[in-house]
Amino acid sequence: MGGRVCAHLEARGHSVGRASRGAGVDAYTGAGLADAFSGADAVVDCLNVRTLSERKAVQFFSTTASNVAAAARTGGVAHVVCLSIANVHDPAVSRRIGYYAGKAAQEGAYRDSGAPVTVVSSAQWYELARTLLHQLRLGRIAFVPHMLIQPVAADSVAAVLAEVVEKREVQASLIVAGPERRDLVDLARRLAAVEEPSARVIGIPGLGRAVRSGGLVPRGTSVVDSVRFEDWALRPWR
Ligand SMILES: NC(=O)c1ccc[n+]([C@@H]2O[C@H](COP(=O)([O-])OP(=O)(O)OC[C@H]3O[C@@H](n4cnc5c(N)ncnc54)[C@H](OP(=O)(O)O)[C@@H]3O)[C@@H](O)[C@H]2O)c1
Repeated sequence: MGGRVCAHLEARGHSVGRASRGAGVDAYTGAGLADAFSGADAVVDCLNVRTLSERKAVQFFSTTASNVAAAARTGGVAHVVCLSIANVHDPAVSRRIGYYAGKAAQEGAYRDSGAPVTVVSSAQWYELARTLLHQLRLGRIAFVPHMLIQPVAADSVAAVLAEVVEKREVQASLIVAGPERRDLVDLARRLAAVEEPSARVIGIPGLGRAVRSGGLVPRGTSVVDSVRFEDWALRPWR
């Protein structure tokens, strides 16, 4: 997502710096953050840690949010934009997905820091269908968990983040989703038809009734993007 946001901002004529460990900046230890933020008008937090452990997710997201907020304050950055996920505060969902507790802790750390933060919460991205199509495989058979979601193209979310940056001021939290509610298994089947016709997708129960039956569908969505899954799946540049 960070790369997509940079591309959108650069296409709109902004000068953009990329801060990641690959670029010598570690948001977890704080190393290099001050230099990276020097002279910036805005910082967009698209950090991620790949874990299912609630403890690791909470530690990573709360620490990095505190470090980013402190470095932004020191550097005089006027606006921090934090990318989160819709419904991370819903206990029916977060008790099944430890990672969500980390995202809730991230939002909490930003709020507690007093930094000028806008939280943009996104529904699941269409790209998740591809990840899950490849994650649990037995040869040509892909096992994909049932989840009712209202997914959105990652690139559309990047465009929203770029617009929030351009507004140059803190806004009330935004929730971004796509145009349709869909079961992830159906999305994986449709993507397989385009990208791997020999694959067979089998639906499995997944992460509990709340997640299966709409607990991830955002409530009070403020931006409903118009790009449909089938159109996204057929776009070679997606
Ligand atoms: N996937 C979804 O459907 C979805 C939906 C809504 C919201 N989100 C949120 O979107 C965010 C971005 O997700 P993504 O899939 O784009 O993540 P990603 O592909 O895993 O990228 C994470 C980025 O964070 C950097 N990073 C990790 N640890 C770092 C550290 N200690 N210091 C500095 N940089 C660090 C990584 O670069 P280096 O490795 O070089 O450091 C990488 O550039 C996440 O917070 C996620 O919760 C995702």
